[in-house]
Amino acid sequence: MIANKTRVIVTRRLPEIVETRMMELFDTKLNPNDHPFSENELIEAVKEADILVPTVTDKINKKVLSSFQREVGLIANFGAGVDHIDLDFAEKNNLVVTNTPGVLTEDTADMVMALLLSVPRKLIEGERLIRSGEWRGWSPTHMMGSRIWDKRLGIIGMGRIGQAVARRARGFGLKIHYHNRNRLPEEIEKSLKATFWEDLDQMLPKMDIISVNCPSTPDTYHLLSYERLSNFQAHAYIVNTSRGQVIDEDALAMLLKNGKIAGAGLDVFEREPAVSQSLLTAPNTVLLPHMGSSTFEARKEMGEKVIINIQTFIDGHKPPDRVLSTILGI
Ligand code: 8YV
Repeated sequence: MIANKTRVIVTRRLPEIVETRMMELFDTKLNPNDHPFSENELIEAVKEADILVPTVTDKINKKVLSSFQREVGLIANFGAGVDHIDLDFAEKNNLVVTNTPGVLTEDTADMVMALLLSVPRKLIEGERLIRSGEWRGWSPTHMMGSRIWDKRLGIIGMGRIGQAVARRARGFGLKIHYHNRNRLPEEIEKSLKATFWEDLDQMLPKMDIISVNCPSTPDTYHLLSYERLSNFQAHAYIVNTSRGQVIDEDALAMLLKNGKIAGAGLDVFEREPAVSQSLLTAPNTVLLPHMGSSTFEARKEMGEKVIINIQTFIDGHKPPDRVLSTILGI
């Protein structure tokens, strides 16, 4: 393939610096008004494109993938999670899928910590009180939250982001526990003073805070089911910056309302951008619009990764961030 002939279609607006570089390097078609593509628009795009650059808002299903006209194509996802792409079908049809791992790790871990502090310490409630003009001054029993220090944090999914959360959480005096598909090497466990739980059901009832950091896969769909959420201690909090599908959102809302879970900090939802009414009215929740990796730095570096993946593919090499369905999981 010749670089300047390669048709690249980008489904959403990317940072200007990324779009400019892509226009210089490839025959790039942008989406200047940033509207999320419908299925038909995605189908039309892949008919025209050699390479598609989608994001989490695009459902890249079998129908879309089978409309690719090229023998070998590339889906260079702008984002780390690839649960919106039918990886299996892509692989079977000579379509290479890449993502942007690593560059959003630290920002997402920061967001975990922000939620992990906001919910137990009632930060949003306090802020709202000030703005309401209703604050009547300090009182010994006002705005009491829960202490973070010395509590047990259970991390589900101990990949890059999970480990970055653990490093931060240690600084806040939290005790690190984790459940993961594979146990971490001993030296990493030691450096994080992390306790491994092979059995998630054993770990959950012992934790004070849970952080969800595993990818969304068929295996992790509703991993935190009603039954598992019911096994939390009533004073426990949950934070999710991964994917909404990992938690049964309706069950979580119900347990929050019944006082069986103390609070939730959520940056992701099962049916984005919709957020269920039951969750919106549940107590002790901080709800954010999927902004974990939303820093100028991360978005620029994500774009750089997309460009490197595309360029290597065009040059006939294996793109560095190729995703294979077999290596996903927790
Ligand atoms: C991205 C994310 O911003 O990378 C991911 O998987 O969840 C987000 O932080 C989004 O996916 C962009 O496509």
